[in-house]
Order: sequence, then structure tokens, then C-alpha cells
Amino acid sequence: MQDRIAQIEKEAQEGIGSAETLDSLDLLSTKYLGRKGVLTGLLREIPALPVEERPVAGKAANVLKQVIESAIEQARSRIELESQDGAAGIDITLPGRPVHQGAIHPITQVMEEICDIFLRLGFDIVEGPEVETDYYNFEALNIPKYHPARDMQDTFYVSDSIVLRTHTSGSQPRVMEKQDPPVRIVSPGKVFRCDSDVTHTPMFHQIEGLMVDENISFSDLKGILTTFVHQFFDDQTALRFRPSFFPFTEPSAEVDIQCVMCRGEGCRICSKTGWLEVLGSGMVHPAVFENVGYDTEKYTGFAFGMGIERMAMLKFGIDDLRKFFDNDLRFLGQF
Ligand code: DAH
Repeated sequence: MQDRIAQIEKEAQEGIGSAETLDSLDLLSTKYLGRKGVLTGLLREIPALPVEERPVAGKAANVLKQVIESAIEQARSRIELESQDGAAGIDITLPGRPVHQGAIHPITQVMEEICDIFLRLGFDIVEGPEVETDYYNFEALNIPKYHPARDMQDTFYVSDSIVLRTHTSGSQPRVMEKQDPPVRIVSPGKVFRCDSDVTHTPMFHQIEGLMVDENISFSDLKGILTTFVHQFFDDQTALRFRPSFFPFTEPSAEVDIQCVMCRGEGCRICSKTGWLEVLGSGMVHPAVFENVGYDTEKYTGFAFGMGIERMAMLKFGIDDLRKFFDNDLRFLGQF
């Protein structure tokens, strides 16, 4: 059998080496490697050999197979190269086709930058589902059915109990159900509201933050958010915390920053007030902790949420929200 294998190899190498077209190469490939080819025939004979000879013969047949395969590959490259010469070949003097380089969308850039700042502060990133249950989007956050706060958010209902999430706050109960304190997370993503005009789009982006542990106080909230604003804009940007209401936090505060356009002088962007509202925040309401089974005597925490588009508009000085979603490459290419 060894002799036959050597003989087959010699013949195959000669045939493949002198093949001149891809078609003839295909025929050779079928002849040697095909289902009814020479090699299959050879392998079929092995069980009939004496036991001692079988492993040697099997190995030799496999080596032969590899040799033939690589000879065919080499011949293929050779034939392809040869066929490119002359009239039918490629004109290498033609100028190349330009490759358009993509860029990261400004919203994604800002989202990543915000996440980076919180990662450096020791927060983890968690993503929640965009199609959310009424429970996590509302109930678990202390917004029962018929609560007037539901009117603040024009909800897209998928069914009675399923919604397109109106905010990223549903990540809070989802995380706390699975994990005991300490919790330190941010949760970025798309949110949806049935609202569309100059300053609203039916889909936009938010990032949610949550920190829970023993002895977390309002000054931790102020410290973290001040550090964040200073890193995202610059450390000269002043902040103010204004009392507000959210069903899932008590006390609640809205955070304004000094207008980044006029530095507090008063301009069109800040409606002459010198301040811009950028964040909602507060100390997590005990009812939310009870819903996830946290000990309200032991743990306290704060939460916050902000709109990414708004942060991007302020950072880049963009005055029309809809520009982010027009997909005009002349606009997007500038970032
Ligand atoms: N979920 C609020 C919204 O969509 C934003 C928000 C306010 C989130 C206060 C919070 C918070 O976590 O504490 O407008």
C-alpha cells in the first residue's frame, strides 16, 4: 500500500502542477478528494489490511490527503495570479475607490464619556430591557396605577402590562432585586415617550444612577453629582440643587448647572436665567426599598437620572435636538 500511496502522490503532484485553468483544477480535486475519488477508495481498503498495518496505512493516507489539498491551493493561487496579467487583468494605475470612514455618533460618544466618568468613581454599568413591564417601569418605583405621576410620561403601551420604558429608572428595582447592598450602578439606554415637537423626540436616551449602602446621605449625592458635572463640563461650572418631586425619591432635587453658554450671565439658551436644568435626583424612597426587600432601617441610597441628548447639546453647543436623528452625514461627520 505504501508504494501505491507514493505512486498516487507523484501522479497527483504532476497533474496539479501542470493544471492551467481553475476548471481543470476542480476536476483534479474531484478525482482525488471527491466522494468517489482515489483517496476515499484508498481509505475503504484499510479495514481489509492486517491489523498491524492499518495504523501506518491510515496515517499515510491522511498525510497524502493534506499534501494534495495544499498542492491544489497553491495551484489555485498560481492560476489566479497568472490570469490577472495582460488585457483581462487589473489596471493597477487606476485611482483607488475612496473608503468612507465612519464616526461614532455624538450621542454614543457622550454616553460613553458619562459612563467612563462613573466607572472611574467605582460604579458598574448595567443595561435593562427597552420593552419593560408596567411593574418595573412604574409599580416598583412607587408609581401605582392611576397615580397622577403617570401623566408626566406619555407612555407607549404594548399591552396592559407591557410598556416601552419611559425612563431608565426601571433598572433600579431590577438590580436591587438581584443584589444586596452595596450597590453602585449606572444604567444607560434608549427610552420612549409618545411626544414629538421641537424639543421632544419619541425616542431619546437617558442614564440612570443608583448608589445604596449603609450611611449614604444627601451629601454623597451632592458630592458624586458635583464631581460628575465638573468632569463632564469643567470644574468652574457651578451647580444648584432645587427641591422637586419624584415618586421614587424623597427628598427629591432637580440639579441645575450654571449656563455653559453664557457662564451665568443670562442668554437665549438659559432663557436669561443663567441656569440650565440637567438632572433629576433624590434619596431613594423607602417604598422602593420595601418593594425589593431591602431593610429600610439599615440602608439608604440616592438615585439620579439625566437625558443624554440634553448633555450632548450643551457640550457641543447644538441648538436643535432633531439634528441627532436626521442622519445627515455633514452634521455627524463633525464629531
Ligand atoms: N426617571 C426620571 C425621568 O425620567 C429621572 C429621574 C429623576 C431619575 C430622579 C432618578 C431620580 O433616578 O432620582 O424624568
